[in-house]
Amino acid sequence: AYNERESLFIAVNFAREFFQQNLKTDEGQSIGLSYFKERGFDLATIEKFDLGYALNSWDQLLLEARKSGFEVDNLLKAGLILERENSPGHYYDRFRGRVIFPVHNLSGKAIAFGARILTQDKKQPKYINSPETAIYHKSDVLYGIYQAKQAIRQEGNCYLVEGYTDVLSMHMAGIENVVASSGTSLTESQIKLIKRFSDQVTVLYDGDEAGIKASLRGIDMLLEGGLNVKAVVFPSGEDPDSFARKSGKREFQDFLKAGQKDFIHFKIDLFAGEAAGDPIKKAEAIRQVVLSIAKIPDPIVRSVYAKESARLLAMEEEILLTELNRQLLKQQ
Ligand code: CTP
Ligand code: MN
Ligand code: MN
Ligand code: MN
Ligand code: MN
Repeated sequence: AYNERESLFIAVNFAREFFQQNLKTDEGQSIGLSYFKERGFDLATIEKFDLGYALNSWDQLLLEARKSGFEVDNLLKAGLILERENSPGHYYDRFRGRVIFPVHNLSGKAIAFGARILTQDKKQPKYINSPETAIYHKSDVLYGIYQAKQAIRQEGNCYLVEGYTDVLSMHMAGIENVVASSGTSLTESQIKLIKRFSDQVTVLYDGDEAGIKASLRGIDMLLEGGLNVKAVVFPSGEDPDSFARKSGKREFQDFLKAGQKDFIHFKIDLFAGEAAGDPIKKAEAIRQVVLSIAKIPDPIVRSVYAKESARLLAMEEEILLTELNRQLLKQQ
């Protein structure tokens, strides 16, 4: 007999295989595969990430899984099916008529799914994700880590993006050291996971208000985790996926190189911007930079950044240090 976790792995793996096979059916080809192709994902990428398709049916997965001997209770606990609200004891598939992005753990086993709607239907959520299960703790997982871990170690850097398709497009552009926080705010255990492979992160969140807010929060958390942090700002309305597709491989790589800023420059540009001469804006930028520097645990690194910031902001180091010490006391 299997224990609960093992039986969940087996059920999720069955579903992963089922969704992948669906891509080869008529419906899967004409709807799922053509969706991926329209977005520019080639077969190699589809294979690399085990992408699939959930048929537009209420219970296709449930029926197939039952035929193969899976218990309803196991499928429920794996997050693959739901109980009908008005008829207890009756179940239906969680993922229907959507393209499927399996989420893998560090050893490459599927543990959960993200499922994207194919239309622009505003009444339905764009993505439906697996719930928390005994083998899937959303806050511990980074999408793409299995496919990225070697490259992260090699490059000594990890790109952090928001979404599934950002990860895929970066791979298509020849950049494999990339993981996604999948739209949720970064957690301590995700940061620990990155730290197993690299001590530097480059944040590539979407070029919209939510993305910038998430970058600011992410940067501070990463600094607190003792990581070296950079960020790239995308043009308004673009994310790594849309931008990579517009610009092509080489141009995209050049954009990342030219556009990456350390967190200090990122914050100065964001809060002072063009109006660097405006004293109120400048004061705000100083406060913002100091807030982040105060998160750095290593006092030596902290003082190096303090010095550098004073220079960049053209201000006396002493004043900046006074503000920094005030922040550090506040945080204790
Ligand atoms: N997300 C989610 N549920 C939603 C919206 C978003 O889980 N209803 C997660 C997904 O992991 C998604 C990520 O947040 O990939 C980023 O969201 P967003 O930028 O809105 O989507 P994109 O990844 O850009 O997806 P697409 O390009 O397909 O629109
Ligand atoms: Mn657990
Ligand atoms: Mn977004
Ligand atoms: Mn996006
Ligand atoms: Mn997108």
